[in-house]
Order: sequence, then C-alpha cells, then structure tokens
Amino acid sequence: MVRVLIFGATGYTGIELIRLLSGHPDVRIVGGTSRDWAGRRASDALPYLSRKQDFPLLSIADMTEKAGEDLAFLALPHGQSALTAETLLEAGLKVIDLSADSRLNDVTVYQKWYGEHQAPNILEKAVYGLPEIHRSLIKKADLVANPGCYPTTVLLGLAPLMNLKELDTDCPIVDSKSGVSGAGRGAKLTTSFCEVGEGFKPYGVLRHRHIPEMEQELTRLGGRTIKVRFTPHLIPVSRGMVSTMYIPMRDDTSGSALREIITGYYEKETFVRVLPAGVYPDTERIKGSNQCHIAVEVDERTGWVIIMSAIDNLVKGASGNAVQNMNLMVGLEETTGLTGLPIFP
Ligand SMILES: NC(=O)c1ccc[n+]([C@@H]2O[C@H](COP(=O)([O-])OP(=O)(O)OC[C@H]3O[C@@H](n4cnc5c(N)ncnc54)[C@H](OP(=O)(O)O)[C@@H]3O)[C@@H](O)[C@H]2O)c1
Repeated sequence: MVRVLIFGATGYTGIELIRLLSGHPDVRIVGGTSRDWAGRRASDALPYLSRKQDFPLLSIADMTEKAGEDLAFLALPHGQSALTAETLLEAGLKVIDLSADSRLNDVTVYQKWYGEHQAPNILEKAVYGLPEIHRSLIKKADLVANPGCYPTTVLLGLAPLMNLKELDTDCPIVDSKSGVSGAGRGAKLTTSFCEVGEGFKPYGVLRHRHIPEMEQELTRLGGRTIKVRFTPHLIPVSRGMVSTMYIPMRDDTSGSALREIITGYYEKETFVRVLPAGVYPDTERIKGSNQCHIAVEVDERTGWVIIMSAIDNLVKGASGNAVQNMNLMVGLEETTGLTGLPIFP
C-alpha cells in the first residue's frame, strides 16, 4: 500500500485528489494540510468522507516535521510549494507538485512571471509531468512538476504536429476557455457568482502565467524556439476547459491526414481520444474523467489548421494527471484508479 500525504487537502485540486484516491486500490491517504482546518479531521471539512477514508489535517510545519510517508502531493498555491517540496525531498519522499513552482527549468523565467523563487535548487530535480510525453523520465523522478491545466490542453493538442513540414507551428494562436474552478477555491471578487455567473470574458491577456510553460514545452518538442499567442477566457461552468488552436499551413494537407497522424501518436494512450471527423470536444463529455478529447480540421479556404482539445481542469488538468504520475513513480499500472467514465449529464 502506498502511503500518501496531500498538502492543501481542502482546496479544489486537493479535494479532487481525495475523490480519485478514495477509489484507488493501492493507496492510503494518511494525512493532509490546511491552515483553516489544522488539528481537525478531513471529514470535518468534507462530511461525506467515511471513517475509512478519513485522515488528520495538520499545518504544513507540523506535517513536514514528521513526514515519513512514500509520496506527497502538493496542491498548494505557487510560492507555498517550493520550500515544502525541498523539505520533503530531503526527508526522502517522492513529491508531485501541482503548483507552478517546479515547472519552469529556468529560474529567471520563473522570476519574471511569478516573482522570487523560494527554493530554486529543486528545479534541476524536477521532471515535467505530462506522462504522454515524458513517461520514461517520470518513472525515475523524485520530483514531478504536474503541468498547468491550459498547457495540458495545448501540449496534448499540438505535440503530434510540431514537426510536420506542411504546418508552420512556430507561433500557434491559442484561444482557451476555462471553468471557474481553475481559479481555486479561495474567495475572490473576480470569481464570485455575480461577476462570472452569467458572463463570459477574456482575462490575463498577454500576461497569463501559463505562457512561459507552454513555450518551454513546445520549444522542447519542436527543437526550436516556439512562441504562443494565448488568450484565456473564463466561462460560467464549474469544471472543464477547451483550447482551440490555429496554425497556418505551409503546404496542402487534409483533416483526415492530420487526424491519422494524431491518432497514431496517441495509439497506445488510454486517456487521449482523437474524435472522428465532424465531432468536437465538449466539456460535458469529459467532466470528472481523466480523458482529453482532441479534434482537428483543415480550413482549405483560409489555409489554416484548427485543433481543438478539451479536459476537465481538475482531473487531466490537475489531480487525475497527478495520480497518473504517482502510479508511474511508484511502479503501479499507470491507469489504476483513473478509468472512471465522465459524469453525464
Ligand atoms: N484549480 C485548477 O484547476 C488547477 C489546475 C492545475 C493546477 N492547479 C494548481 O494547483 C494548486 C492548488 O490549486 P487549487 O485550485 O486546489 O487551489 P485552492 O482551491 O485555492 O486550494 C489551495 C489549498 O492550499 C491551502 N492554502 C492556501 N493558501 C495557503 C498558504 N498561503 N499556505 C499554505 N496553504 C495554503 C488551502 O487551504 P487553507 O486555506 O485552509 O490553508 C487549500 O487547501 C495551485 O498551485 C494551482 O495553480 C490548479
């Protein structure tokens, strides 16, 4: 039995980890952290937990002091994760960091977008945790940087196409829409009901912090510098995220040829589905599952390719992907605990 801790157990991704791990046959959650609920039981914060699923909640300081478990999930805000990761790695735990603190290889890039890094030493140990692309490295890693939700849609959608000579992938246009849980559970004016309940708007234009992460990983995939033109939007749903990406063509190709290439790339993958012609990703068809749905079309009239990609931001975009990483890191079958179908309607 793998013994795990969840730091930030009372936030959206922490709660989603508890939901997914409660159905995992080989894992036991032995503790979690929260500032508000420290000293209480997880079932005080989440009354639907059974006695068997329950565990104690402590402060980060108390939890790190006696941590002797196998693995820790850090579902903490960026800036809070780095020092915790450093301490836990020193104590011999494997760490999966859901925050951005481990994702960027270059500390100066981190500082530009996020501010001072609290433990830059961890960056050289971190493996970027998108299993469909970095599986063999994740298996050997002690610290895995779980990807951001927008980058997951973008990287899974674009990875198979980055080196096709027919396409100009140097600067894709990325137009993304996210449900409000992507902003976390903490009360904020910008995500309160009257601000987002019936509207739909772009935000973070030109400055969203997922831009450097997408560029880092697309550059790695393409073997040359890649930039993205990224505009995220907030939509009035709790979960779900769609990215629609536009790439100009250099040479003729067809939707069926590109669909075949993407299907071939993900042939052995359990969680990535390439949709048939004329079927498009829909957040209602992936909600609660670890699936990513991808569609592609060629617009012959304008000479552009359109790639569409959808995930549940809390599952494949965060906690489900983190459990997939955990399975790889501890030598379990990668899909364990993650094969549940979407919740529909
Ligand atoms: N939401 C998503 O869709 C998503 C997707 C991918 C990645 N992520 C990343 O995953 C991490 C967690 O996201 P989330 O949406 O779960 O956030 P969240 O809902 O705001 O939860 C954050 C958790 O951390 C604790 N916390 C908050 N501030 C803290 C602080 N200063 N020191 C220590 N603990 C603190 C909170 O509990 P207390 O306030 O009781 O301490 C809570 O348990 C973030 O880094 C986020 O960027 C989120």
